[in-house]
Amino acid sequence: MKITTIPPRSTAKPVLIFPAGMPRSLEYLRKSLSDGRAVIGASSLNLDPSQDKYPAWLTLPYITEPNFPAELQQAIAQFDIGGIYTPNLVAWDFLNRTLQELAPGVTLVNASPSDTELHGYRAAFQQAGQLLETTLTLASNLPAKQAATKIELAALLRHADVIPGMCDHEKLRALCEIARHSRGGDIVEIGSWWGKSAFILARLARLYQIGKLLCVDPWSNQHLVQNDEQGMVDIVSAQVDADEALAVFEMNILPYNANHVNYLRLPSVDAATRYRSDTTVNTATFGCTDYSGRIAILHIDGNHSYHAASADIAAWSGLVLAGGWIIVDDYIWPYGDGPQRAGDEFMAAHQDKIDSAFVMGSALFIQLSSPPDGNA
Ligand SMILES: C[S@@+](CC[C@H](N)C(=O)[O-])C[C@H]1O[C@@H](n2cnc3c(N)ncnc32)[C@H](O)[C@@H]1O
Repeated sequence: MKITTIPPRSTAKPVLIFPAGMPRSLEYLRKSLSDGRAVIGASSLNLDPSQDKYPAWLTLPYITEPNFPAELQQAIAQFDIGGIYTPNLVAWDFLNRTLQELAPGVTLVNASPSDTELHGYRAAFQQAGQLLETTLTLASNLPAKQAATKIELAALLRHADVIPGMCDHEKLRALCEIARHSRGGDIVEIGSWWGKSAFILARLARLYQIGKLLCVDPWSNQHLVQNDEQGMVDIVSAQVDADEALAVFEMNILPYNANHVNYLRLPSVDAATRYRSDTTVNTATFGCTDYSGRIAILHIDGNHSYHAASADIAAWSGLVLAGGWIIVDDYIWPYGDGPQRAGDEFMAAHQDKIDSAFVMGSALFIQLSSPPDGNA
């Protein structure tokens, strides 16, 4: 057991939030109120609409005004302020240079706002470089397309990072590589939820000119029941709002839709029947999308019970092209072995049609065989 010591709060004195109306200030306010931290809002505006949200308030001159330091000093003494939070780049820099002299012992409670804002971009850029330097060598039967550029990969990683959901970095790395080794056709995802992996697949579809992405998900609480071994997943699933999840999915994917993404709000088995008989999908949000009916990449990440994962594979795998990829997510899953049993059974039954298979991150990747002439 690892014991983590939680440092005592540096001060029980109130934190001054200035300027109080900035979006990051309001985020800090919300977190402070929920953590029970005392805060005071401050603004230089005569009438600041955020004032009502704060438990205490004061007005300060603009930092460019000569009396700002003295009035800040006075406020700190009067309200016994222990720290200052400011997301404003100029205010943070000014206070970082002057606060120790102005009010010894009072500290800035946040790191440099530009470092904070840029951290995710820098990490994505660095990770994209690593992806390019350490490409996976796949025993794939299809030639690799030219890798996306560093900035294209960094953009993919950065935007994926802000979408909540489940897709570990190792899996993402493998997805990038198999997309490079993919033939043309539809990409079908079973189980999209808030759209994290759907976003990744939508971008890879464009970067490597694979085809269109169809997301299949009933977005219904009924279908979230997975009968996981200890019931821990089902307890959480019962608390989520499936209609809201679909709205979040739409918000996440819509800006990246280049007429190549749509969804069927159906359980996967019903959606497969629908896709077999009609490959045109129409939704109010994404409009009308014509699919080819031939799947290049099938990503299975729906209900993880053995019964559901097997049904997903049975319903869709026959539509995957020779040389195409099947990904069974959560092949390694701490809450049960449904995807693993279903994936293993598929591989055992179709050994003669599989060229390669590997596990990366939590997912199983299977590439079906191409015909000997390589034309698939
Ligand atoms: C693990 S989440 C998917 C996570 C998502 N791929 C991501 O990137 O975060 C599982 C999803 O499967 C969906 N699902 C459950 N039963 C399904 C079924 N029969 N067919 C398709 N999707 C299903 C759930 O609604 C849920 O959105």
